[in-house]
Amino acid sequence: MDLKDCIKGRRSIRKFTDEPVSHETLEKVVELASFSPSWKNTQIVRYIAIDDPGLKAKIAKECTTGFTYNAATMESAPMLIAVTVIKNRCGYEKDGSYTTNRKDTWQMFDAGIASQTFCLAAYEYGLGTVIMGIFDESLSDVLDIPEDRELVNIICIGHPAENPDIPKRKQVSELITYK
Ligand SMILES: Cc1cc2nc3c(=O)[nH]c(=O)nc-3n(C[C@H](O)[C@H](O)[C@H](O)COP(=O)(O)O)c2cc1C
Repeated sequence: MDLKDCIKGRRSIRKFTDEPVSHETLEKVVELASFSPSWKNTQIVRYIAIDDPGLKAKIAKECTTGFTYNAATMESAPMLIAVTVIKNRCGYEKDGSYTTNRKDTWQMFDAGIASQTFCLAAYEYGLGTVIMGIFDESLSDVLDIPEDRELVNIICIGHPAENPDIPKRKQVSELITYK
């Protein structure tokens, strides 16, 4: 797929068919996402793929802060991806001090870059995705995420069952200034 078509054609998908996401395809998506840039090439992003129907239903029911919109999307998706980062690496010097006054927030930056690359790669393989930032903190316990990791976001993934219109984009003239 042409890169411009990939960037412009990817949409957040919230309705999916029942067709499962094969682990083989998922691993190809993760392989492409592994080429994302990262802070000093620390590559701290780790993905947890959830396709067990019981666990997925529990997450949709108990970990969506009562936001039924997200719960419905999670129920529709055959697989959820928990995007996590290994803490205390990104934004740090070798001696454990922060490199910049933005401290460890660079780990969120890296998770964001990786998430977008993941979604574009999934689109290339015919899969739909939506990044989710609204979920309950209890999800870390449900997924048994260890202390040295942080859960950043969820990505719902599956075969699209909708073709949404493009949400309006701002004009370039509003996005850029020159000095
Ligand atoms: C950090 C982040 C958090 C988001 N959280 C949610 C969410 O909780 N639920 C949801 O349905 N969409 C969520 N979205 C998707 C946005 O609503 C979507 O990207 C935006 O409306 C533009 O649509 P598009 O992705 O189709 O271009 C999130 C996107 C980002 C980048």
